[in-house]
Amino acid sequence: MIRLVYNIKDYRDLLRKIVMPEDTVVELGCHVGNSTYIISELAYKGRVVSLDNSPESVDKMESLMKKYSNLEFLKADVRLHETLEIVFKKIDKCDVLSIDLGGGYHPDTTFKVFFIWASTLKPRETLIRNRGLIDFVNSSLAVDDFKSEEGWLESSGDDGIPPRLKELKLWSSKL
Ligand SMILES: C[S@@+](CC[C@H](N)C(=O)[O-])C[C@H]1O[C@@H](n2cnc3c(N)ncnc32)[C@H](O)[C@@H]1O
Repeated sequence: MIRLVYNIKDYRDLLRKIVMPEDTVVELGCHVGNSTYIISELAYKGRVVSLDNSPESVDKMESLMKKYSNLEFLKADVRLHETLEIVFKKIDKCDVLSIDLGGGYHPDTTFKVFFIWASTLKPRETLIRNRGLIDFVNSSLAVDDFKSEEGWLESSGDDGIPPRLKELKLWSSKL
């Protein structure tokens, strides 16, 4: 399932609902780890890979990694294909993809990041924190009935990453 949320408390409550002990979770936009520690405890028999490109994240995430052996932090830009490739090679599955680039962050970039990462990693659940995407969904009336059960857009199947998204250096047909 794909879940959209804006309120940070609801975001964390949803994580508590969907993350299972043996899950591999990929968290995009962990900041200083205020949700990461919750995820790391929930997925205590699994694995958590958390990413952020902010220098603010580094010290806090390094301390968290000492506390949680199942956690790995990468300081990287999640818009870049090379970042996705590193994570793709690191994990053998992704159960939950959790995306919080900022609740009010550009919905266009958030959607592209979601589409690329979810269609590559094919998670069971995706959680996205973004106000603009919620507004879009709530303000739209779809004529056709495409609907995905998993955490990625099944209507796009294995189309992978469209070459037109090259402008964000996210393109890859390799993964
Ligand atoms: C609202 S904060 C995340 C809060 C965190 N999820 C929590 O629950 O406490 C958004 C984070 O997204 C990160 N971010 C935004 N764009 C990014 C990008 N392109 N690559 C990596 N991190 C990004 C920011 O650096 C920031 O730390």
